[in-house]
Amino acid sequence: MMIDTKTATFGKDMLSLLEWNKAELIDMIKLAVAMKTNPSHYSHMLSGKILGMIFDKPSTRTRVSFEAGILQLGGQAIVMSSKELQIGRGEPIKDTAHVMSEYIDAIMIRTFSHQKIEELATHASIPIINGLTDLHHPCQALADLMTIYEWKDQFNGVKLAYIGDGNNVCHSLLLAGAMVGLDISLAMPKGYEVAEEILFEAQKLTEQTGSQIFITEDPQLAVTDADFIYTDVWTSMGQEEENAKRLADFAEKYQVNAQLTRYAKPDYHFLHCLPAHREEEVTTEIIDGEHSVIYQQAGNRLHVQKALLAAILESK
Ligand code: CP
Ligand code: NVA
Repeated sequence: MMIDTKTATFGKDMLSLLEWNKAELIDMIKLAVAMKTNPSHYSHMLSGKILGMIFDKPSTRTRVSFEAGILQLGGQAIVMSSKELQIGRGEPIKDTAHVMSEYIDAIMIRTFSHQKIEELATHASIPIINGLTDLHHPCQALADLMTIYEWKDQFNGVKLAYIGDGNNVCHSLLLAGAMVGLDISLAMPKGYEVAEEILFEAQKLTEQTGSQIFITEDPQLAVTDADFIYTDVWTSMGQEEENAKRLADFAEKYQVNAQLTRYAKPDYHFLHCLPAHREEEVTTEIIDGEHSVIYQQAGNRLHVQKALLAAILESK
């Protein structure tokens, strides 16, 4: 199925999935699948468009998939680190937003505070795309949905279990899942739950989609009959000082290993946003085993972000 990106009413920004609705997400995923199948058909779609990318944290997938993606659509990318920009010496975000809007067509930014990208979006006349903040990682969740869709062809009745930290990846996954109608079970220790405002928004979404959200401290309960098991690192970027405590708090119960995965459906798939710490949040046996689809999932970052760029840039 194709979407007409010239007439569809996509929003200006992608700060979190909350700016989008179910129909838009599903259209985007279908466009991503079409782009993956027939990339050459889209090779001039964003000809002449320039994407600026600002990084306050390291990245492999986000950086390379966005850069490759805009190039494959006929556009160009400028990669920047805040340290090399005047913003790193205290130039206001407002001035940076206005100035960049004069030069380029969109900004993808990876940073710490979510407020920072909200401020950037408020002042920029060009679209702002969240390439990860401490609160959200929407582009990752789009690739996660695409991967689930490729395996199941639908979202209703599909059960996803997320085991681990209630972090940015978990937040976006929860919102994405609630929006499209997945059943989501979360297992996390006390003190590492998802943010209240995210859970509130996700629960509101389930009223429209019928998606079920189940939260427990027991990974075995969460994983029971799951179609997908997802985990992420226990210590995210910026939390390095908490690493020893986090290891101690998660290690006993929250590792995805063969003992846990036997409660899932026999044909379950394992997902991880990567980078992963083998033998911490997941054993090598599981992440490198027959159920793992991590490289397909990482690959889908490229396709789904091309669809996102097309959705927000083609008609501009
Ligand atoms: N999953 C993800 O966002 O990876 P990078 O940190 O390598 O971009
Ligand atoms: N939760 C991780 C995701 C990395 C892609 C982090 O924020 O470091």
